[in-house]
Amino acid sequence: MTAASTGTGTVPDTSFMVDRAYFTDRDVWRRELDGIFKRSWLLVAHESEVPSPGDYVTRRMGTDEVIVSRSEGGEIKVLLNACTHRGTLLCKADTGNTAHFRCGYHGWTFANDGSLRGVPRGRELYGPGFDKGAFALRGARVATFYGLIFATFDQELCSLAEYLGDMRFYLECMLNVSGAGTAAPYGSYRFTHLGNWKLEADNLAGDGYHLRHAHRAGFDMGIMGAQAGAVEGVCVQFERGHALRAQRAAGSEPGLRFPGYPQERWPEIAERLSPDQARMFSDSSVVHGLVFPNMAWVHTPRAGGFDPGEPEAAMFQLRLFNPIGPEETEETNWLVTPADYDDAWKASAFKTMQRQHGATSFFESDDLENFRRMLQPAGGRVGRELLKSNFDLATGSEPFKPWFSGPGRIVGSDVSEVNQRWFYRTYLAWMEAGK
Ligand code: FES
Ligand code: FE
Repeated sequence: MTAASTGTGTVPDTSFMVDRAYFTDRDVWRRELDGIFKRSWLLVAHESEVPSPGDYVTRRMGTDEVIVSRSEGGEIKVLLNACTHRGTLLCKADTGNTAHFRCGYHGWTFANDGSLRGVPRGRELYGPGFDKGAFALRGARVATFYGLIFATFDQELCSLAEYLGDMRFYLECMLNVSGAGTAAPYGSYRFTHLGNWKLEADNLAGDGYHLRHAHRAGFDMGIMGAQAGAVEGVCVQFERGHALRAQRAAGSEPGLRFPGYPQERWPEIAERLSPDQARMFSDSSVVHGLVFPNMAWVHTPRAGGFDPGEPEAAMFQLRLFNPIGPEETEETNWLVTPADYDDAWKASAFKTMQRQHGATSFFESDDLENFRRMLQPAGGRVGRELLKSNFDLATGSEPFKPWFSGPGRIVGSDVSEVNQRWFYRTYLAWMEAGK
């Protein structure tokens, strides 16, 4: 972060500027993988994607390929998707059910808990002393949070609960809605796009500034319903770089109501959440945020566009972005719903997600195009040197008491870059610590 001459003026020394190299350089990307992704709890799947023994999905943790597997004993395993003989990619499918994974090179076979079971001609060629236990698939630590499966290969890292910290208060608002737990009823879908992963992270951490410009068409078409009118909002920041932004229609009367959720389920929601969580959840119409480094979410009630007979619903979309390279990101999305809500409700929620935040939706396609365009000037030798990304919006924002009581540092700015500054400050601290 440095000052730079621009046009006829000078950017003040106090400006928050991030070098474009952070969005394009392969050296930076490699340092991120070591300094951040290897040292974090990373989302990999939802439990409902692997409900039965033998079920598996393949995912990425940063650039490491992993198999998320339900063992014959019912345990969830996250295993490096690499044969321990010579490191060949073991499982090539996205999803399936199997008791064993057999390597395509020399045929070593591993059970779905990662243990090495079969070595062709093993006794004859390796001798009786060969220790299969030493060649089990490399397994990650695994922890779950309301159905979300996280993993890390860092044995020293704190527990997932500690890692999430006070962000749990807000995540529980959306995940602890039903005693039946959560589900990802439509599985997940993946796509890649051009753009650095941090652009999406900082956007979902709290970029209220772009909404009415980048997504103007969506607002004009009425997709946002009452949210297209005057709103008020807050940004909240937590330890370890987590952040969120919440908003509601300006002047909303407080009251325990849960827009989009079936009214007969409202007492259950109010009962499961703490009074402060219920107030936060009921009075916030749109909430989105980031679990550092690469899990984000958006929660919003469906605002309109119903077909005849369709019920109201609320959408909780989980997003994961893994950096395939500095300029290419793999994104995985899930719709997460209360497990026991009826199919019509889930379908309505899914439609909301696909229309607003799916890969080809009104909002996501706007964002992805801007992320791609941000790469273009950074490729020029002059532009790369002279241009930096600026995050000075609303530097004077102060701690604020909003319509709910909740943990974290709460700042009263609906339109600001306070969370982006928080994200990049944390990011740079991790990068420095990981050198
Ligand atoms: Fe897998 Fe040889 S590399 S069996
Ligand atoms: Fe957007």
